[in-house]
Amino acid sequence: MHRFSEPVAMRELLREWRIARLRVAFVPTMGNLHEGHISLIERARGLADRVVASVFVNPTQFGPSEDYAAYPRTLERDADFLRAAGTDVLFTPTIASIYPFGETEAWVDVPSLSGILCGAVRPGHFRGVATVVARLFNHVAPDVAVFGEKDFQQLLLIRRMTIDLGFPIDIIGAPTAREPDGLALSSRNQYLSVEQRAQASAIYRAISAVAAAVKAGSGLCGQAEIASKSLQEKGFRPDYVEVRSAQTLQAPSPNEVDLVVLAAAWLGRARLIDNVRFTRSSHTLSITERKTTIQ
Ligand code: PAJ
Repeated sequence: MHRFSEPVAMRELLREWRIARLRVAFVPTMGNLHEGHISLIERARGLADRVVASVFVNPTQFGPSEDYAAYPRTLERDADFLRAAGTDVLFTPTIASIYPFGETEAWVDVPSLSGILCGAVRPGHFRGVATVVARLFNHVAPDVAVFGEKDFQQLLLIRRMTIDLGFPIDIIGAPTAREPDGLALSSRNQYLSVEQRAQASAIYRAISAVAAAVKAGSGLCGQAEIASKSLQEKGFRPDYVEVRSAQTLQAPSPNEVDLVVLAAAWLGRARLIDNVRFTRSSHTLSITERKTTIQ
């Protein structure tokens, strides 16, 4: 596995691969890797001839009171994981190679997706994500990039940014890797105490129950509210539980069938996010929604 922290040196190698017509897949990460990240590398290997992974804890996507300083940094362990998973290049850019002037002036933003859900409670977060991913895309210039469906809002935002900015890159979503009890793997799970960890999978159960109830014909808002209350009773502090269009993340139109339940909730000092995508067959639209469709 090649390792680069300067984009110029990495680009030399990538240029050779391009001349040899090798297809390059890219998996950006912030490190502290777990099986969820490794599943993205495996997916990437199936999509291309060479796989580039990056590890960069991006300061611009953390708010002033968030965990940028405390975010776990485990680079040598990450490098071992990546090598074992068959990664060809590990790119660990310096802050200066991503933000040459320190403060950036040129931001990338997708306001319709960055201001809602997680973006409403983490102002500036998605602007930081879009900006760093655009820069990483410029340095790596991959043919395809793989992102986790675990961060569903991020995946949609990057898809939209890629199309709007004309990056010739296919954006692939990969399924969420979970613990046996359903908890989505996340670097932030290690902030949980033993007792909190035992409770944490309630978030997945709660949103799965919402998806099942809506599929069976229940109204969207009522079900989301029930889930939010049940999480509060278990000691979570929910930021939101919402059922949205899986295409736009806006409130679904009455006859929309491709839906996603998304939740974000604090448990102790860990902020957990999760989502379940599902298809509502048109005959399960609730009575009120059917009426709206008819009107
Ligand atoms: P990070 O949280 O390190 O996640 C890197 C990639 O791994 C993202 O695409 C994320 O969705 C995916 N991922 C995380 N947990 C997963 C799981 N349990 N199953 C499947 N995939 C999972 O997301 C970021 O970093 C950053 O915002 C980044 C895109 C790198 C920009 O800084």
